[in-house]
Amino acid sequence: MKILVTGGCGFIGSNFIIYMLETYTDVEIVNIDLLTYAGNLENLKSVEQSTRYRFVKGDITDRDIVRLLASEKPDVIVNFAAESHVDRSIIDPSAFIKTNILGVQVLLDACREFGIPRFVQISTDEVYGSLGPEGSFSETNPLEPNSPYSASKASADLLVHAYFKTFNLNVVITRCSNNYGPYQFPEKLIPLMITNALEDKDLPVYGDGLNVRDWIHVLDHCKAVNTVMRHGVAGQVYNIGGRCEYCNIDIVKLIVNKLGKSESLIKFVKDRPGHDRRYCMNADKLTSELGWSPEISFPDGIEQTINWYLENQAWWERIKTGEYLKYYDTWYGER
Ligand code: NAD
Ligand code: DAU
Repeated sequence: MKILVTGGCGFIGSNFIIYMLETYTDVEIVNIDLLTYAGNLENLKSVEQSTRYRFVKGDITDRDIVRLLASEKPDVIVNFAAESHVDRSIIDPSAFIKTNILGVQVLLDACREFGIPRFVQISTDEVYGSLGPEGSFSETNPLEPNSPYSASKASADLLVHAYFKTFNLNVVITRCSNNYGPYQFPEKLIPLMITNALEDKDLPVYGDGLNVRDWIHVLDHCKAVNTVMRHGVAGQVYNIGGRCEYCNIDIVKLIVNKLGKSESLIKFVKDRPGHDRRYCMNADKLTSELGWSPEISFPDGIEQTINWYLENQAWWERIKTGEYLKYYDTWYGER
């Protein structure tokens, strides 16, 4: 099976590539990634010598490069490439509109032109908006995104659906909840709190810290994507979730305590504008129709993740320089 992965140098894409190459000897992967601030070739060191893996630096909004790779006739395109951080979409939505919407159009057009048999769009629970204290999102919930990031992802989902209906393209959409695990960029809650705590820096918690997220280990997400890629029904959406709700302050306290640091590092700061209160995924369709369930419990997964950041200090120290510090100052400086 020849897979064209986009955005494979980011957090989830790199975990997916490593998982697929290690698990299946008949899988070949081409990875196109623009290497934005979030893309990191170091994530793929363990597979870069493999004869079944090839990296191409390129932009999914660039029709020429996408057409060139599509002309090699992969069996499937799995689209992880995106601007992925909500806070950055509040600072400037432009790149989110370009990559997350126009980039998807370019990929879909290439699928049509070259007859690619399958397109997998990696979407997010954030397209559904925010939940109250009860209930969960199912695939039939309306799309009610609240941030420029989630609006761009919802737009892409609609476009993917339109190409299924209008052009009969073989597409599937996955919508997953919050991932955590190795190689996550330290702008997101869990790696930010682990690395700041290790540096004895403030731990900025938005608002009252009671916003709830549904956490899933990245490996469970990768396995779900593989399942949907192979067995999902064309035109369908599949929710993916960890069945694991935590409010932010509890996650931050857990990390602080596991690292043996003081809770006095925790600072409540000005809330994120438009901050969704709660996410919770109902992934019953994926479980009952395709047989997937999450396997990694949060206590095991968070322990493994904290250890990974302890053992890979050089990886995140190299990231927390230059552009990262400028972003950090812009976003947190005033909070
Ligand atoms: P990430 O920010 O870590 O990685 C994104 C990757 O895409 C980077 O390697 C970056 O260089 C690349 N990229 C960005 N713009 C590009 C472009 N124009 N052309 C080619 N490559 C480009 O993101 P992530 O957390 O790994 O998320 C991957 C996907 O999963 C995204 O589509 C995101 O919306 C979705 N998702 C993420 C989560 C989560 O919790 N992180 C949950 C659900 C869904
Ligand atoms: O739900 C899936 C989504 O999860 C993905 O689609 C996104 O790509 C991914 O970034 C993530 O979005 P969130 O906004 O939920 O994740 P983030 O790690 O940015 O924040 C998680 C929660 O923690 C959220 O309620 C905001 C809060 N938070 C975050 C940061 C960075 C803080 O309180 N302080 C912080 O400094």
